[in-house]
Amino acid sequence: MIFETVASGGCRSYLIGCEQTCAAALIDPELSQIDRYLALAARDGLRFHYLIDTHTHADHFSATRQLARQLDVPVVMHRASPAPFVDLHLEGGELLVVGRLRLHSLHTPGHTRDSMCLQVEDRVFTGDTLLIGATGRTDLPSGDAAALYESLFQTLLRLDPALKVFPAHEYKGRTHSTIGHELAENPRLQKTERGAFIEMMQTLNLTMPTHLTEALRTNMSGGKTVAQMLSDAAAAVPFMSLAELKARLADQSGRMLVLDVRERDAYEAGHIPGAMHLPRGQLELRVNDELKDPTARILVCCEFGRISTLATATLRTMGFQGAVALDGGMKAWREAGNPITQGASP
Ligand SMILES: [Fe+2]
Repeated sequence: MIFETVASGGCRSYLIGCEQTCAAALIDPELSQIDRYLALAARDGLRFHYLIDTHTHADHFSATRQLARQLDVPVVMHRASPAPFVDLHLEGGELLVVGRLRLHSLHTPGHTRDSMCLQVEDRVFTGDTLLIGATGRTDLPSGDAAALYESLFQTLLRLDPALKVFPAHEYKGRTHSTIGHELAENPRLQKTERGAFIEMMQTLNLTMPTHLTEALRTNMSGGKTVAQMLSDAAAAVPFMSLAELKARLADQSGRMLVLDVRERDAYEAGHIPGAMHLPRGQLELRVNDELKDPTARILVCCEFGRISTLATATLRTMGFQGAVALDGGMKAWREAGNPITQGASP
């Protein structure tokens, strides 16, 4: 079996591949690592057959949806998953065929209702049901401490103690554990009595994960993250540096419209000399009145360089093929000591 672990912060995703057939599957891929997964598969001559989420993640952005679109490969989740883009729903006890490999699924609700573990040969991918020295939390949406108790003690921990455990999270750099080791050493699993286990899980008082609402929104709907919106826009537009802008303003010969898309108070507090004001929120509605030349060279700026990227992409979509975004924003422009004009007029 070809096997790769990809760590992204505390998140772990896994690539498994069949050496004989070059078929592969990806478990819990994360959005920021897409190029790495594709590179690993290409390096070993593998083709993905399945993109699997062990559960609805609340703490990172799943890449299954985007990879599925890119590669035309099915997304696999448990039957209880609410995500509308899942192509293949598994029940506990069913298996996936990946070349000569067999991925056996176990339904292990508790961390979430749709949590599952996947056993392949000598190892089990435990998602957030069982971590090294811990368990998944049960205080997030669809979490259930009683269900986790059953999933652990009636299902997962009854597997062969020698099975290697590969969790969806690991914060201390350990590669894996075993069922036997966790049974003996995992502090949470020492609470073998149902009531004591549930009480422990319900009183952990963990802090909420960052990006909780955004992760749930995008992972459950297939919608885009804010970072994706920005990176999609950035991929579709050219940029101009602050130094180039400064040189062009000094030169005066290169006719270029500087368009400031911030709100009025920010514009009046200080803008690039000659910059026209058209707030991002009114761009589409006022563009026909304000920007009459679709061939014009338009340099779009905002405070930090993010809204201007979105606005430039919008302008180019609308046909302004001369629109370019400022690489950086007014903050950087000011801090570099460049000229500023105050007030309502350009
Ligand atoms: Fe999770």
